[in-house]
Amino acid sequence: MKITYYGHSCFLFERGHDAILSDPFIRGNTLASAVDVASIRPQAILVSHGHGDHLADAREIALQANATVYSAYEVANWLGAQQVNTVGMNAGGRHKGENWQLSFTQAHHSSSLPDGTYGGSALGAMLSLGNQTAYFAGDTDIFGDMELIADIYKPDFALLPIGDVFTMGSALAARAATMMGLKTVIGMHYDTFPPITIDQELAKSHFKKQGVELILLKIGESINF
Ligand code: NI
Ligand code: MN
Repeated sequence: MKITYYGHSCFLFERGHDAILSDPFIRGNTLASAVDVASIRPQAILVSHGHGDHLADAREIALQANATVYSAYEVANWLGAQQVNTVGMNAGGRHKGENWQLSFTQAHHSSSLPDGTYGGSALGAMLSLGNQTAYFAGDTDIFGDMELIADIYKPDFALLPIGDVFTMGSALAARAATMMGLKTVIGMHYDTFPPITIDQELAKSHFKKQGVELILLKIGESINF
């Protein structure tokens, strides 16, 4: 699959005709000002939880692309009341597309919508395109059941938050990768705001010590797996 980074926790996962976008937060991200939001046309959008830095552009992109948003039941209801096509789910739930599959997993984080509406549980996701599976952890701390869900879904690589303060930082993320037996991690949820500005070389060294490669994509950059 091909993965393109749009900043923070927003990635486009593509394979053949399938295109799935995660946690759209672009216009509010000054680091992502060069991204052309109007050109992003996924068929599905995965929203891990209700915080604005994960769904601020979900409605606009869903409407322009006629995409369906997959999220927690509460977040789906909130977007659904704003003319967005949604599928409300929860941890453990799976959605099977024709050539892709999404399974929601637990995450240790909070979730409320920008207007204060209760957002249900924050979620992570296992996203499979063809025979490759990516673990998109969402916003989360490390937790022991990462080992269990890695054993169940056998991800080939993971997208893990590394910015600290609101999620785990790079040292814990490196330990999480080791726990899951992963060799490759794409970092997310760092540098967007002052509290989560990181030392990228230090973050990479935390992973290297564990024998894991940490990939930090430039905004707009793509990588093929
Ligand atoms: Ni959050
Ligand atoms: Mn966040």
